[in-house]
Amino acid sequence: MKIRAAVLEEFGAPLVVREVDLAGPEWGEVLVRLHACGVCHTDMYTASGVDPSGYAPTVLGHEGAGVVEAIGEGVSSLKVGDHVVTLFSPQCRECVHCRSEKTNICLSIREQQGKGYLPDGTTRLSRGGEPIRHFMGTSTFAEATVMPEIALAKINPEAPLDRACLFACGLSTGLGAAMNTAKVEEGSTCVVFGAGMVGLGAVAGARLQGAERIVCVDLSADRLELAKGQGATDTLIGGPDAVAQVLEMTGGFGADYTFEATGNVKVMAQAVEAARMGWGLCTVTGVAGKGETLDVIPRWLITGRRVAGSSFGGVKGRDQVPQLIERYLAGEIDVDAFLSHRLTLDEVNKGFDLMHAQDGIRSVIDLT
Ligand SMILES: NC(=O)c1ccc[n+]([C@@H]2O[C@H](COP(=O)([O-])OP(=O)(O)OC[C@H]3O[C@@H](n4cnc5c(N)ncnc54)[C@H](O)[C@@H]3O)[C@@H](O)[C@H]2O)c1
Ligand SMILES: [Zn+2]
Ligand SMILES: [Zn+2]
Repeated sequence: MKIRAAVLEEFGAPLVVREVDLAGPEWGEVLVRLHACGVCHTDMYTASGVDPSGYAPTVLGHEGAGVVEAIGEGVSSLKVGDHVVTLFSPQCRECVHCRSEKTNICLSIREQQGKGYLPDGTTRLSRGGEPIRHFMGTSTFAEATVMPEIALAKINPEAPLDRACLFACGLSTGLGAAMNTAKVEEGSTCVVFGAGMVGLGAVAGARLQGAERIVCVDLSADRLELAKGQGATDTLIGGPDAVAQVLEMTGGFGADYTFEATGNVKVMAQAVEAARMGWGLCTVTGVAGKGETLDVIPRWLITGRRVAGSSFGGVKGRDQVPQLIERYLAGEIDVDAFLSHRLTLDEVNKGFDLMHAQDGIRSVIDLT
């Protein structure tokens, strides 16, 4: 079939919205008619050419939601008409990682996905017979996509798809960092560095876990206002004094849980230092620039602080994204506050401009 899609033709140049060919689903694959897709930093990062593992041509986009239009042979967990959220972090339920409670990092299709191929090593996307690669196994800046069944979360059809798509990446990452990775305890004190989609999700996750005090740190007063709406009890303007201020707010000890959601390695170090002596746990979610390293003074660790990293918030996508969506539908998560701009597919590059200008939290592309 012919679909319109936003193609990364050349690094550093705007995406080109054009017609491409999409073949039907093969064994274990599903054709999804996309309804909405969020614009995320990772798309912009890859488009810029800075990511050494990037490839082109490819169809970008990974925060998708839509409706199943066709299924390939062997697909048993999805049927035509099901509403789905796309997962760049799949869940096969069979590999040694999927069978462990300790991680959400499924091993089954990593290698091919990382190279831009579907699990059988080929692509369904093409143009004039030339293959186009699948970005993050999703390629959701498009009217439709073909994805493995194991990379689709079946959600309650009552969830509006323009909100549900935000659970495909940043929001679930933040929520999960607090709920799965850190497992924030009731009555605890949390500090979240960064009030973008991920940090705000972590604030909401800490609130859902029953944290008593949630301090959000950001450079933007507007974003800190949004953090209050998600449950932050205190806010701080970030900078070199942030750790001293956190210590002052916590009787000199630091916080039970800290979260880093900025991608800045200096802030990661602040988040480690601001964790409480004795048992403080720092969860790092930000993606640092190529070659950057985290500078941690060993004494911070010897005196009881711990550091954890979190990919997609430790969320096992097929099991847990539907659960998070249920909590949203029950009124426990305010998703509307994150949806700042609505764009058409043709305006995809404007989504990057808005993100660059830090205008709003998320732009969502309407693909219907
Ligand atoms: N681990 C994962 O699976 C995963 C998933 C999605 C995104 N990410 C990463 O998480 C990070 C956050 O993503 P986002 O979409 O929320 O980004 P964002 O750019 O919208 O938010 C980052 C926030 O950090 C703030 N900030 C910058 N410097 C600061 C400082 N010194 N002190 C305090 N705050 C500061 C900014 O003002 C901004 O509000 C990025 O690095 C992104 O690549 C990771
Ligand atoms: Zn993302
Ligand atoms: Zn697996």
